Amino acid sequence: MSFLHQFKSLISYWLNEENEHSLHSPFVYDLYQKVIKKKPLAKSCYEKIEQVRTQFLNSDKEIELTDLGSKSTLKGSNKISTIASQGITKRKYCHFLDRLADYLEAKNIVELGTSLGINTLYLSCEASRKVTTFEGNPSLVAIAQAVFEGNKRNNVSTIEGDINDTLPKYLQQASGIDMVYFDANHTYEATMNYFKLIRKKCKDKACLVFDDIHRNAEMEKAWKDIKDDFEVTLSIDLFQFGLIFVDPEIRKQNHILTF
Ligand SMILES: C[S@@+](CC[C@H](N)C(=O)[O-])C[C@H]1O[C@@H](n2cnc3c(N)ncnc32)[C@H](O)[C@@H]1O
Repeated sequence: MSFLHQFKSLISYWLNEENEHSLHSPFVYDLYQKVIKKKPLAKSCYEKIEQVRTQFLNSDKEIELTDLGSKSTLKGSNKISTIASQGITKRKYCHFLDRLADYLEAKNIVELGTSLGINTLYLSCEASRKVTTFEGNPSLVAIAQAVFEGNKRNNVSTIEGDINDTLPKYLQQASGIDMVYFDANHTYEATMNYFKLIRKKCKDKACLVFDDIHRNAEMEKAWKDIKDDFEVTLSIDLFQFGLIFVDPEIRKQNHILTF
């Protein structure tokens, strides 16, 4: 069912995607050229992060699973190697998120869903950024924290527990968020709930990135409703990710862009 849904969504994406030639908004054109289309820089931190990913891919360890009602695609696998190969952000997309953080000059980043901490390593690779990452599985929190310590990431705070409980508490004292990566609970209800809670604490120029917007019918509906939200001024569908801006200075527009 989900495979068929993704296939249909991909066909629709291919038929509707635009490139730089159809972009009239200077902001979207600049973002497309400098972040979406741009080839990855060879930052010195990248190689070390990929070595950590390789260690996980070769690991024969298993962890305790926690049911967080998140519609995981891992089908109950508790092997670290399976999580590393199927359950975390791929290198190309981690590079994109790092470029986006650079472009936004993001200082205050929130990541929902830490898992093994690989993408968090990318988000925190500049010391000027502070990253707050949320994870509900205690075994994964322990692994990720060891990774952050081993890589001297003093700019990462890990918040352990069910995001349904921890996010509202965190947001009571949070403000000035520049970038959010939604990569935890891929259900309609959770996605809408986290979006509504978090956007109030974001800066005008902030970017909210939703992972896997075409994964299933629930995520598709969440993406549609988020795009239609009256405060959302710009949406960009990259198939893997949906990007949202709530900047009142941008006129309302939706794009599907080649990535
Ligand atoms: C796709 S993985 C995150 C991958 C990570 N962002 C990366 O790319 O390296 C999603 C994670 O979210 C966690 N998660 C899902 N639902 C959650 C919830 N309600 N509360 C806390 N964590 C949750 C899962 O345990 C899982 O580790």
